[in-house]
Amino acid sequence: MPLKVTKINDNITLIQTPEQSFVSNSYLVSLNGKERVYLLVDPTPQEYFKDLIFTLNDLIGGVENLDLIYVNHQDPDVTSSLAPIMDMNKNALLIASEDTWRLIRFYGIPRERFQAIEFFPNRKVVLKTDDTLEFIHTPFCHFRGAWMLFIPEKKALFSGDLLGGLSSREVNGVYATEDSWEGIKLFHEIYMPSKEALKLAIDKIGRLTPLPELILPQHGDIIRKNLMVDFLAKLNDLEVGLDYIKRYESQQQFYLYAFNEILQNLKNNYSDKEKLMQKLKEINSSPFFPELIHFENGVATEFRIQPESAIELLYDKFSEDAPREERESLRIDIIKTLRKYNLDIPEGILYERQRGSENPFRRIFKIFQR
Ligand SMILES: [Fe+2]
Ligand SMILES: [Fe+2]
Repeated sequence: MPLKVTKINDNITLIQTPEQSFVSNSYLVSLNGKERVYLLVDPTPQEYFKDLIFTLNDLIGGVENLDLIYVNHQDPDVTSSLAPIMDMNKNALLIASEDTWRLIRFYGIPRERFQAIEFFPNRKVVLKTDDTLEFIHTPFCHFRGAWMLFIPEKKALFSGDLLGGLSSREVNGVYATEDSWEGIKLFHEIYMPSKEALKLAIDKIGRLTPLPELILPQHGDIIRKNLMVDFLAKLNDLEVGLDYIKRYESQQQFYLYAFNEILQNLKNNYSDKEKLMQKLKEINSSPFFPELIHFENGVATEFRIQPESAIELLYDKFSEDAPREERESLRIDIIKTLRKYNLDIPEGILYERQRGSENPFRRIFKIFQR
């Protein structure tokens, strides 16, 4: 499937991989002044290299016309196309942090083609188009040497994995809606290491002058001004990575006991064993997060998401096509079991009647279960 190309404005074109739930975004930035500069931000993964070359042929007359390539950090979804791009283009300069370079140099890119962010005074450089490239360090979001790229003249912030997310919108657009939040939340819970690192990065966005009007992340939906403050405020309060691992550490074992007890009751009462096994399999069927709950011999032994989310996921899976009475019986069993272990009951289960069919959490897992 070819890459999806969307013109965002006169200067920025989004080049997006065709996956449905977890897309990789690359951006072609075209700057014009006395001279013209073509900058490629976070190149498309190597899996789509050929498509990327064709796309660049269409957009700028060929990969050889690129002047600059920027990468936020070293992950393969961002850097795996670098070496062949730089083989086909003998002039473009690669810009990244020293931390990133230490790893991507193993692609065999010559050092003289690389320019470290740290080398630029005040981490800024003015191009011959009179546009400024401003680099903003976001330590441990999610890599120690991750840096965002801001072009103040265009009020555009290329944020890398930060503010990236799963695409939870059902429409075929590229801009975030309020519904995009659930995908951003889940992505940050898994990928970002701690609230402290996240807060630091968010604070840096808040202090940019001028404030960006477009946040262009490496995954998911582009965030416009109207949702920016809302999403940043929500992220500021989000528990991610180590925070919830630590918070649940002492309770993890009890959540596992409770989960397995609920599961055992389900097994005892479920007549269609095949369907039961199928449903358990579906819980772990996301192509991008293949094991949300780790099972050994039919027993859950580890949660890779918040334990409360794991229990909600189990409930959602087994109640989606169950008759009302069966659903209610499972809900009561979950509440009773969690109460027995003195654990918090997820609100979505406690207040079932208030949950709409449009529950975004449920919708995200539906995207997974293709
Ligand atoms: Fe990454
Ligand atoms: Fe990424």
